[in-house]
Amino acid sequence: MAFFFRGRLARKELPDVVPGHIAIIMDGNGRWAKKRGLPRSAGHAAGAEMFRRVATRCKDIGVRYLTVYAFSTENWKRPPDEVSAILELLDKYLREAAEKMERDNVRLRVFGDTSALTDRLRGLIGDTDEISRRTDGMQVNICVNYGGRAELLRAASMYAAELAGGSARTLSEEDFANYLFSAGMPDPDLLIRTGGETRLSNFLLWQSAYSELYFTDVLWPDFDERALDHAIADYAGRARRYGGI
Ligand code: IPE
Ligand code: IPE
Ligand code: MG
Repeated sequence: MAFFFRGRLARKELPDVVPGHIAIIMDGNGRWAKKRGLPRSAGHAAGAEMFRRVATRCKDIGVRYLTVYAFSTENWKRPPDEVSAILELLDKYLREAAEKMERDNVRLRVFGDTSALTDRLRGLIGDTDEISRRTDGMQVNICVNYGGRAELLRAASMYAAELAGGSARTLSEEDFANYLFSAGMPDPDLLIRTGGETRLSNFLLWQSAYSELYFTDVLWPDFDERALDHAIADYAGRARRYGGI
């Protein structure tokens, strides 16, 4: 039930301050499953369901961009059956999204090196890219086989190729950002990590330079609409100085 639309919310249900771009490291699926005596794959399935709910909440409150970490360049170190289970959930999600994103006016992008994915998955990503050309509402970015360092290397290589071809100019921060997967998008205002770890694990290294970080022990499959609202309320109380006073 991707982007299930529950209708316009009453004003009192909306947070006072809504971050334009929320990024989430959805961590803790495995531990959630273990606590229940379930296989890790059951944790990923529950996590995928919570992602649908949180994405819907973000859309309903007016978030413009939602970027989530679904599978990192390091996650290939996991047992093959766990990797397959995660990619199978992505397949399922993309198929559902393709049916509903036009109706819900949602754009969808995948950030990461998709060349390592199956033809089938790349085909589905092609479909959702195509639909995204016709929609202009909330944009969801799903990071798959994504690593911040790999993204920066890719950007540097693209720039180097343009330099060698004679078409590149000196590089400003704004120019460089255009070589990233997030080209043209604002940086995340709020970056949430669930699951208790207080690290970035190679997520959005460039883009998170001035993001407000929010860490919670709540495991991702338990991070519901209320938990999201709580994170946003915390964000609303922050003073963003960007190096000023
Ligand atoms: C996050 O949950 C999902 C992915 C990394 C794909 P984990 O699978 O890392 O869950 P824990 O951290 O082992 O609990
Ligand atoms: C980060 O979680 C990656 C995703 C949530 C997709 P990990 O569970 O892979 O991170 P580490 O291993 O704790 O750093
Ligand atoms: Mg983890």
